[in-house]
Amino acid sequence: MVIYLDADAAPARNTGQIKLYGDDAFAGMRKACQLTARCLDELVGIVAPGVTTDEIDRFVFAFGMDHGALPATLNYRGYTKSTCTSINHVVCHGIPDGKPLREGDIVNIDVTYILDGWHGDSSRMYPVGTIKRAAERLLEVTHECLMRGVAAVKPGARTGAIGAAIQKFAEAERCSVVRDFCGHGVGRLFHDAPNILHYGNANEGVEMRPGMIFTIEPMINLGRPHVKVLSDGWTAVTRDRSLSAQYEHTVGVTAGGCEVFTLSPAGLDRPGLPG
Ligand code: MF3
Ligand code: CO
Ligand code: CO
Repeated sequence: MVIYLDADAAPARNTGQIKLYGDDAFAGMRKACQLTARCLDELVGIVAPGVTTDEIDRFVFAFGMDHGALPATLNYRGYTKSTCTSINHVVCHGIPDGKPLREGDIVNIDVTYILDGWHGDSSRMYPVGTIKRAAERLLEVTHECLMRGVAAVKPGARTGAIGAAIQKFAEAERCSVVRDFCGHGVGRLFHDAPNILHYGNANEGVEMRPGMIFTIEPMINLGRPHVKVLSDGWTAVTRDRSLSAQYEHTVGVTAGGCEVFTLSPAGLDRPGLPG
């Protein structure tokens, strides 16, 4: 049995129950998510060949500090960086380091700021210089997957409708959906119920209700869907070393559909892609 409850009355931990948030929470999430979106906007002018992912990490930390926000990943389950930077065949949770980005790389930058206790979680893909056509196509397909998932969010439908929309489009484009990681409820907690799968059937999952807040963050591969985690305990890579991409939004379910809290105020939701 799925239990929904008023977020104000809910225990401040993941109990598996689904929190329904009110107007004040939506306002708080809007602010946190827009700060994250502005950071991701700024990174468009920073990502370039020769720049290290540690430099990107330092920017994300400083931008947060300048705006009264803390990166949620810092000291999260032993993770020690302010962002995840996932390059080429890295699926997610890439750890920033001193290696420079190279022309032709594609890098996902995933930022979560905590502002006034609210978590704004979003990521985008950034082409480094000029990229190959196959890589550009993967970015286009993956962003379209995210937006088709977002379009499936409405009260009364099940969360499985999100995954079904994503899987259908990804596979029609001869790409595959990573199964090992999913979207998640978010709010005062970074990772909360429910899990949002990026594959499956529209009649699966839980019913969406107004006031639910969660992320949609499909990871799409050019090759097979299988991943492995490297010995650092974090970095997830494709087993076949094919290219992988991911975009992430935080959304809130409304009476008519959803509000996308992490949309770019500058229209930079798909850095480096036309449109
Ligand atoms: N931001 C990631 C997400 O979308 C989570 C990163 S957790 C970390 O859920 F510890 F790897 F940083
Ligand atoms: Co997330
Ligand atoms: Co994220």
